[in-house]
Amino acid sequence: MNDPVVAIAGVTGAVGAEFIATMDRRGFRVGKLKALASARSAGKTIDFRGRQVLIEELDENSFEGVDIALFSAGGGISRKFAPIAVKAGAVVIDNSSAFRMDPSVPLVIPEINAIRIAEHKGIIAVPNCAAITALMPLWPIHRNNRIKRVILSTYQAASGAGAAAMQELVESTRASLNGEAHAPKVFPHTYAFNLFSHNTAIDPATGYNDEETKVIRETRKIFEDDRIAVGVTCVRVPVLRAHCAAITFECERPITEDEVRAMLSDAPGVKVVDDRVRNYFPMPIDASGQDDVLVGRIRRDLSDPTGHSIAIFAAADQLLKGAALNAIQIAELLPQRVMA
Ligand SMILES: NC(=O)c1ccc[n+]([C@@H]2O[C@H](COP(=O)([O-])OP(=O)(O)OC[C@H]3O[C@@H](n4cnc5c(N)ncnc54)[C@H](OP(=O)(O)O)[C@@H]3O)[C@@H](O)[C@H]2O)c1
Repeated sequence: MNDPVVAIAGVTGAVGAEFIATMDRRGFRVGKLKALASARSAGKTIDFRGRQVLIEELDENSFEGVDIALFSAGGGISRKFAPIAVKAGAVVIDNSSAFRMDPSVPLVIPEINAIRIAEHKGIIAVPNCAAITALMPLWPIHRNNRIKRVILSTYQAASGAGAAAMQELVESTRASLNGEAHAPKVFPHTYAFNLFSHNTAIDPATGYNDEETKVIRETRKIFEDDRIAVGVTCVRVPVLRAHCAAITFECERPITEDEVRAMLSDAPGVKVVDDRVRNYFPMPIDASGQDDVLVGRIRRDLSDPTGHSIAIFAAADQLLKGAALNAIQIAELLPQRVMA
């Protein structure tokens, strides 16, 4: 079988750039690359394996002859063009939230539920990046000693909102240091030297924002456990890249921090960074550019005297494991890749 023709919808974005870098780094074989973005980028080029590839405007005809379509151009674009790509014969791996909760669409973190990939009907969804950051370290525990309840707070970086948000953080910080005014364009609030509740819409009935609702629903779908109770607070922090999460979980049976440390040490895609002597734990600066989700601060939750609860802290490069890497891992597991 020939190497697949791969299209990237959103090739000029923060995730798009990581698709290119990740395919390169992992030696993902590509017969031909179709680089797709908006009319703003059409006619420019991107570098792919030392060759300049022309960026085309995404339209209804973009997917003729495409085997794998990696989507990262927003939910609206995915809703409109992913079905067109499937009709043209491509398998779509979608980074947006458009299809994640569709019961016919597998929602996949390969280390957790790669087995669901085979059930796809054309579209496979990549979970929310905050959900991936939290679920990677929770899964090895959940599969050994069911987690009944999780409470987590996220510390989410600018890069989770794309290239323009990263620029806003840099520019607003520079302006602030220079004593100049800076009007926010991407976010509703001042970003430099500030933090704020996640910028997605709030459900007036529940008080939860969209990001939090995604984490709750996607956890249940990926763990295939409708009973797991999830409480979550999502916060945007002035960090350029890599999300963090402070997580406390309660298991069905008693659990010790040593058991958790052992389970996490053996878990694929997870790296334990837990040095109490040096006070060295997961940080965004260390997680940036890394495939692994870093996890540390592994300790008993002292608010639960029954010994069923543990607290941890995780950091992950959400442009990689939270988006591009997770998508390429899925692509590597597609049957046509196995046969190639
Ligand atoms: N950032 C993350 O960590 C992350 C994680 C998980 C999922 N995601 C999802 O990935 C998607 C993109 O995120 P991002 O962070 O890479 O955003 P971004 O940096 O803002 O990039 C957006 C990309 O979409 C393209 N695009 C926008 N409008 C388009 C249109 N009408 N037609 C074709 N292409 C269009 C842009 O092309 P132009 O340059 O031509 O405008 C650009 O390539 C979103 O759905 C996001 O929710 C992001």
